[in-house]
Amino acid sequence: MLIKQRKGWEITESRVTPEHMFLNRRAFMGTAASAVAVLSAGAARAEDDPSAGLYPVKLNPTYADAGRPVTPLEINRAYNNYYEFGTSKQIYDAAEALPIRPWSVVIDGEVEAPVTLAIDDLLKKVQLEERIYRHRCVEAWSMVVPWTGFTLKSLVEMAKPKAAAKFVRFETFNKPEIAVGQQPGLFSSYPWPYVEGLTMAEAMNDLSFLVTGAYGKPLPKSMGSPIRLHLPWKYGFKSIKGIVKISFVTERPIGMWEAIQSSEYGFWANVNPEVSHPRWSQAMEEVLGTGERVPTQLFNGYGAFVAGLYSGLENEPLYM
Ligand code: MTE
Repeated sequence: MLIKQRKGWEITESRVTPEHMFLNRRAFMGTAASAVAVLSAGAARAEDDPSAGLYPVKLNPTYADAGRPVTPLEINRAYNNYYEFGTSKQIYDAAEALPIRPWSVVIDGEVEAPVTLAIDDLLKKVQLEERIYRHRCVEAWSMVVPWTGFTLKSLVEMAKPKAAAKFVRFETFNKPEIAVGQQPGLFSSYPWPYVEGLTMAEAMNDLSFLVTGAYGKPLPKSMGSPIRLHLPWKYGFKSIKGIVKISFVTERPIGMWEAIQSSEYGFWANVNPEVSHPRWSQAMEEVLGTGERVPTQLFNGYGAFVAGLYSGLENEPLYM
């Protein structure tokens, strides 16, 4: 049964007005200051990650300039969406409860040989690189993040999908004993685990990036450690965190938000300033940490890489 309810990460219309941004700035600066304390407490934990020796890695020159300054780590760490750990943007501490070793990723479905790979074995098989990407949330805020990871394309090639595979389905862990959002209560009606999906063509696009690190270190748990996706031309909810399963499937996967409210969150979710969310405009975005609002760009400015993926699909709801 689909339950009409407002998701915690949805903003009210006032959240996207310039007035609100102005009023919010003082609160935001306070958040940033407390994040510095969180950061210093968390620094040792990042070093404890068994993959720490792999970072930093070489920056890919194709993705070295996002056209805006990188969002400072302390701003990013204080402003995350990870509903498994609650509704607040400050889920850094709550996410620390997630054990990230041992951690395996199942690769299954329409592939020559399904496999379960321990994260450190997977990391040995891939070519890590750094990419600086713009990151645009459906809530009309954005950041610029220096991710480290590897192309989804390289994982697809490793998985050897059969011709029957038409989509890739991603699934997050389901650990109600650790993740407060998955416990009976506020979000227990959500169809956990978090799921997202892509077409095979989208998965094979060079931009599709499996992320294991950020800011030259292993990924903080709050940002989706040990492995998440980042799709810079799509709204952030497509960029699933804490991945445990990647399945090659014949049917279009239904993402968790689409399952909850398909009139507002669809499969494609490509960024478009001209297509409003049913309850707010997408024309502008707040660049976190700068106090600026800037015009949103079609495909978040990555059209040269991805627009061709959608020719012939004009009748699809590509922008929700
Ligand atoms: N993945 C999981 N598993 N759970 C979530 O709640 N939130 C999504 C996406 N991936 C989410 C998730 C949303 S709404 C956004 S905007 C981005 O993660 C936020 O990524 P960030 O916190 O690194 O900025």
